[in-house]
Amino acid sequence: MEKHTIKYLKDYRQPEYWIDSIDLQFDLHEDHALVKSLMKIRRNNEIADAQTPLVFDCEALEIVSVIAEDMILCPGEYGHENNKFTLFKVPETFTLEITTRIKPQDNTALSGLYRSGGTFCTQCEAEGFRRITCFPDRPDVMTTYSCIITADKEKYPVLLSNGNLIETGDLDHGRHYAHWKDPFKKPSYLFALVAGNLVCIEDTFKTCSNRLIDLRIYVEPENKDKCGHAMTALKQAMAWDEEKFGREYDLDLYQIVAVNDFNMGAMENKGLNVFNSKYVLASTETATDIDFMGIQGVIAHEYFHNWTGNRVTLKNWFQLSLKEGLTVFRDQEFTSDMNSRAVKRIADVRKLRAGQFSEDSGPMAHPVRPESYMEMNNFYTMTVYDKGAEVIRMISLILGSERFRQGMDLYFEKFDGMAVTTEDFVATMEEASGVDLGQFRLWYSQSGTPRVKMVQTHDLQTGTLTLNFSQTTPGDKNQKEKSAMHIPVQIGLLDKDGNEINNPNCGLFHLKTKTDSLVFENVPEKCIPSIFRGFSAPVKIETDYSDTDLAFLMARDTDPFNRWDAAQQLYFREIDRLLEKTQKKEPLGGVSPHVLAAFDLALDGAHTDRALGAKILTLPDENEIGENYENIDVEGIHRVRCFLKQGIAQQVRERAMAIINECASVPASDISFAAMAKRSLKNLLIAYVGSLDTPADADFVFEKFNQADSMTDEIAALTTLSQMTTDHRTVALERFYNKWKKDPLVIDKWFSVQAVARGDHGAGEVVKLSGHPDFSLKNPNRVRSLVGAFTFQNPMGFHTPGGEGYTFVADQIIALDRSNPQISARLVSGFNHWKRYDKNRQSRMQQELKRIITIQKPSRDVYEIVSKALD
Ligand code: PHE
Ligand code: ZN
Repeated sequence: MEKHTIKYLKDYRQPEYWIDSIDLQFDLHEDHALVKSLMKIRRNNEIADAQTPLVFDCEALEIVSVIAEDMILCPGEYGHENNKFTLFKVPETFTLEITTRIKPQDNTALSGLYRSGGTFCTQCEAEGFRRITCFPDRPDVMTTYSCIITADKEKYPVLLSNGNLIETGDLDHGRHYAHWKDPFKKPSYLFALVAGNLVCIEDTFKTCSNRLIDLRIYVEPENKDKCGHAMTALKQAMAWDEEKFGREYDLDLYQIVAVNDFNMGAMENKGLNVFNSKYVLASTETATDIDFMGIQGVIAHEYFHNWTGNRVTLKNWFQLSLKEGLTVFRDQEFTSDMNSRAVKRIADVRKLRAGQFSEDSGPMAHPVRPESYMEMNNFYTMTVYDKGAEVIRMISLILGSERFRQGMDLYFEKFDGMAVTTEDFVATMEEASGVDLGQFRLWYSQSGTPRVKMVQTHDLQTGTLTLNFSQTTPGDKNQKEKSAMHIPVQIGLLDKDGNEINNPNCGLFHLKTKTDSLVFENVPEKCIPSIFRGFSAPVKIETDYSDTDLAFLMARDTDPFNRWDAAQQLYFREIDRLLEKTQKKEPLGGVSPHVLAAFDLALDGAHTDRALGAKILTLPDENEIGENYENIDVEGIHRVRCFLKQGIAQQVRERAMAIINECASVPASDISFAAMAKRSLKNLLIAYVGSLDTPADADFVFEKFNQADSMTDEIAALTTLSQMTTDHRTVALERFYNKWKKDPLVIDKWFSVQAVARGDHGAGEVVKLSGHPDFSLKNPNRVRSLVGAFTFQNPMGFHTPGGEGYTFVADQIIALDRSNPQISARLVSGFNHWKRYDKNRQSRMQQELKRIITIQKPSRDVYEIVSKALD
């Protein structure tokens, strides 16, 4: 088998040659593209001398010609092998012109220059630029770019690249050209080009220094009326970044292009973002409230990268979280300010617990700043992004918002135009604040999720309440022994009536040692501590709360996040109790009265805050539950969760109906947060009612489906129906398909709804859907909507005991690896936790992993994940 090499952070060296400028020319044709690159090159005398060869990256390209200082070189005068282009002896400064030929129409990996439908577009992060031309394709080589694009004028009327438009004009044979120039230095991963038959909506934004910026969103002509929401979000993001971080936009033009085929969510190329159309296009008929929120968040995220990522960029890919963790933190703050802080926090913590915690305990566990990788694309992970954002959040908590802002200002001041490291960031935060973050740095270098335990002792005689904390982090392949972390614990005290007690020890407690305790004096009886408020650190928390304490916190905590979290703990405990019964084959009996009472109380509360209410009333999903156990009981968890849901539904049916009616009046066109909250509460309660699965309930949900006038309501009712046994299910699915078959983003939803439903029926339905004429492995969104949803959100289906789910997914992985390794590798992680299942499932999953790795030439992407999983 081919050996794939591992890259290490400790091996980082500066580049041997700098590029002072690059002028690119692209001639785009139907069956190839010619790329001419003219570079001014300068030796880095700090580490190179006259003997040092020049080595550039190149991949999947044909070299047509090489001209050094006006001298045409013949193939023997340069090296071209193993994805490297080499000049053996070069002067200190010189110009180099390389012409390459590439085949965008055959580029199914969607990295480099490729075609999405009739549009040419590029994706260069992380290492796609080397698939366009020979170049030192690493983020610490920053240079200024100019780009001339020539193409057929009728087929490709729109020609875009980074920066400002310098010139356009017509050429012979029906062709035309556009010349773009980006005045800002950038690394190659931020280069972008788009050519296509697109239309745009336009707007402007006036910056804080009164500069007028042109804003353009380009889409296919039929989607022109679906960009309004994205444009609004962009303007909100631009204003917010000025207000909250003092960051003004720098170019005179900001362009966004939506394409249908895209490996990720979106890309922050300088002045020319390329987006997955899922994160641009929306109307209330075709997009759900969650889609609207997703668009707002991703548009903002990419915009915020202009400062955190582009103006200040990365020294090497190990530093990825420097831009991603920080930018996720910034987009989270933006969303919190635009909508509800508590609801955003809850959504983010759910994602972190179900996704990142599980990554952190599996074979792909890595620190926020990884120390090695085989394939960089495999490290765009929840750890780098979401745990990375938690690390920034903790820094801002420890410093306080004012000093954090001072630190950010200093960071931009010191490093504008440079390629830096997470260490530079942390050191700057220390410099600006005077706070010691020495121990805190472990959050960047140590993998795994710390566990914190809190046990209370309350001496009623003296009124002393002691909170005894202890922390441990389980060892893993990265570090066998883990050191104690600096863990910020945000604490409050509630008296027996739920009033906040003013005690000097309330607020931020710094847990820095393996064990420590915090002592509160003069604490009255029946007082309850509320800890890790707002989820102040990304840790697993264990407490000695009684069920009564949890019910109290759920009803009375002044911290809304902790109200939600108390509800979660209460559900988890109930599920655990029921799970033990199923495992002992005992009858389940009923749902505990205290859980039903707590739920009832939460329904009361939902009147005042519907969005938060909906979150509190939502049961943890099967993955979140599974994450609590070392050995995952797939059927048991499924059975018990259904039982709990139905038990609650029975109890609250009448009240639920009343609230459903109350919330029914909101117009579909209203996408205010309050309107979304109404829909989310209503649809959650419809799902509870639907879980009872009686014929009357089926009629009720079917009626909701037929009445729906927004995609939010339509897909919610369809999802509920799809989990029921009723015949309405088939009718609704068919009706939905026929109504939306021309809209690919909606058909993705149609695939997803079925991919996550009825796991107890096995994998048959999903296998059948993969043969549907609308299914295709070529489109990443479609793959995610069927295979991804099945693998990651349908545990019963994927883990069908006969192994049909595993075989199906492994087949897709193998087929996809030939065309799009990045997307293929993402699916492999569905098998990562194979050791946590029963013997039968273990051996079946292991067998599929072995089958995948023994295919002819697995990609580096797939090889890395499978080999780590099998290790
Ligand atoms: N840098 C992009 C983001 O976080 C994500 C991305 C990575 C897109 C790699 C494409 C390829 O916004
Ligand atoms: Zn990002």
